[in-house]
Amino acid sequence: MSFVLLTLALAGLAAASPAPIRRQSITALGQSTIDGFTPYTWYASAGYCAPSATLAWNCGTNCDNNPSFEPIASGGDGDSVQYWYVGYDPTLGEIIVAHQGTDPSEFESDLTDADFFLEQLNTNSTLFPGVSDSIEVHNGFLAEQALTADAVLAAVQQGMSQYSTTAVTLVGHSLGAALSLLDSVYLPLHLPSGTSFKTLNYGLPRVGNQAFADYVDANLHLTHINNEEDPIPIVPGMFLGFVHPAGEVHIEDVGEWASCPGQDNPSTQCIVGDVPNVFDGTLSDHDGPYNGVTMGC
Ligand SMILES: *[C@@H]1O[C@H](CO)[C@@H](O)[C@H](O)[C@H]1NC(C)=O
Repeated sequence: MSFVLLTLALAGLAAASPAPIRRQSITALGQSTIDGFTPYTWYASAGYCAPSATLAWNCGTNCDNNPSFEPIASGGDGDSVQYWYVGYDPTLGEIIVAHQGTDPSEFESDLTDADFFLEQLNTNSTLFPGVSDSIEVHNGFLAEQALTADAVLAAVQQGMSQYSTTAVTLVGHSLGAALSLLDSVYLPLHLPSGTSFKTLNYGLPRVGNQAFADYVDANLHLTHINNEEDPIPIVPGMFLGFVHPAGEVHIEDVGEWASCPGQDNPSTQCIVGDVPNVFDGTLSDHDGPYNGVTMGC
C-alpha cells in the first residue's frame, strides 16, 4: 500500500472511530469455509449458459465442476428474459435455483442513471402475498423476477417431490443475484413451511429499501460475496434509499475473505468502506475471480 493510500485509510479509520454504533467485529473466513462456497460459485457462473446447455448439463467447465447435477428445467432467452435453471445436486442434497447475470458496464450505468424507482414488493399480491406494504424494491428487478416466477416455482416443486428433499439453495451473480434474492423472498411464500432455504449471491447490487433489508435479515439465510473494488455492490446508492441486507463477505485485495457483519458495514475491510463511490471501483473485479471462479459461460 502506498503512503498516500495508507494515509487515506488511516484518515478513514480516524473519522469512523468516534461513531457511537457498536458493531460485531469483522472476522476472516477460513479456507474450508471459502471452499464450501465453490460448488455454488460454479452454479452461479453456469447461470450464464444457454438453457439448452444447462438442461443437458453439458455447458463446459461450469457444468463439469458439479458433475453429478441433475437438471430439471431451464428457460429464458438471455435478452428480454434472463436465463435460469433449476435442478438437484445429490451430493449436497439440495435443489439449486440459478439466474443469469448481465454485462457489468451496461448494468452499472443502469444502476447509476436513476431511471428506476423503489416499488412496493406486494404490487403483485399473487407473487408476494402478505408482505408488509413498507417493503420496496427496484422496479426493474421486480418486473424481471415476475417473468420467471411461475416456471421457477413449478420446477422447484417438481424437484422437491421427485428427489424427496426439503432443501433449496438459490444462487446468482450480478443481475442474477438480485433476481435470486427476490426469488428467495418469493419461494418461501409458496412452499411448505418445513422447507429450508439458503441464498448465495455474488456481486449483488442493492435491491430494496430498509424494510426489505430488515425482512431479508429476519427471514432468509443470505450470504453475498463481493470481490475487491467491484462497484456494482455499492449501487444503487444509499442516498436513493437502498440498503443491503446483512451477510456480506468481502474479498479484500490481500486475498482475505472478510465476514462483514450488519447492513452496509462501513469498514474499509468491507465494500462500502473499500469503494466509497463508483469512480473508485474497478468494473473488471465484478466477474471475480471468486476463489478461482470467474463468472461467465
Ligand atoms: C402477477 O404475477 C403473475 C406471475 O408472473 C402473473 O401471472 C399475474 O398476471 C400477475 N398479476 C398482476 C396483477 O400483474
